[in-house]
Amino acid sequence: MSQGDVRIVPISEEYIESFHKCLDSVARERQYLGFVEAPPLESTHEFVLSNISKEIPQYVAVIGRTVVGWGDISPITLEGFTHCGSPGMGVLLGYRGKGYGKRLMETTIFAAKESGIERVELEVYASNIPAIKLYEKRGFVHEGVKKNARKLDGQYDDVLLMALFI
Ligand SMILES: CC(C)(COP(=O)(O)OP(=O)(O)OC[C@H]1O[C@@H](n2cnc3c(N)ncnc32)[C@H](O)[C@@H]1OP(=O)(O)O)[C@@H](O)C(=O)NCCC(=O)NCCS
Repeated sequence: MSQGDVRIVPISEEYIESFHKCLDSVARERQYLGFVEAPPLESTHEFVLSNISKEIPQYVAVIGRTVVGWGDISPITLEGFTHCGSPGMGVLLGYRGKGYGKRLMETTIFAAKESGIERVELEVYASNIPAIKLYEKRGFVHEGVKKNARKLDGQYDDVLLMALFI
């Protein structure tokens, strides 16, 4: 498959079910995300429709109508923090290492900047080397570490805090 077969598009209602499957699949790997299964389809549906109506940057990587990755940056709504945004991203196992994560990140950061977000801040597990490398390469800096912040399946993991001014 060539890069051109995968399109990065703003999420729309037609992709919600496939996005939910993709999110669930990555969550069930029990390594990378803050949850180990996707929220129910109904709440994902509501969440995405609300994001679309608020013009929150949320993109999906698609092959035809199948979602193989996603990237979003949700603005923080608390007064005093609205210049900050919190990203989420993932690529389906089997589609990683082909540049889709990078494309999703670039597209989402561009849209976040357009929408007025100045600071993108995230948390990533210390064991998640591919994500950390991707963020470092894009210019995110390390701001701190939460020691042993996750304990899952009997294993501790540190949570790294990273941020980028866009
Ligand atoms: C993190 C993730 C989104 C990266 O997406 P991807 O499509 O595989 O990444 P890309 O192919 O676009 O690679 C972009 C950069 O990431 C880094 N990277 C990707 N895979 C890597 C690996 N296996 N080892 C080290 N660095 C890696 C590299 O810096 C790479 O740039 P380069 O190819 O120019 O060296 C993907 O691995 C993923 O979905 N992981 C599970 C979910 C997740 O971790 N989400 C983020 C939670 S904080």
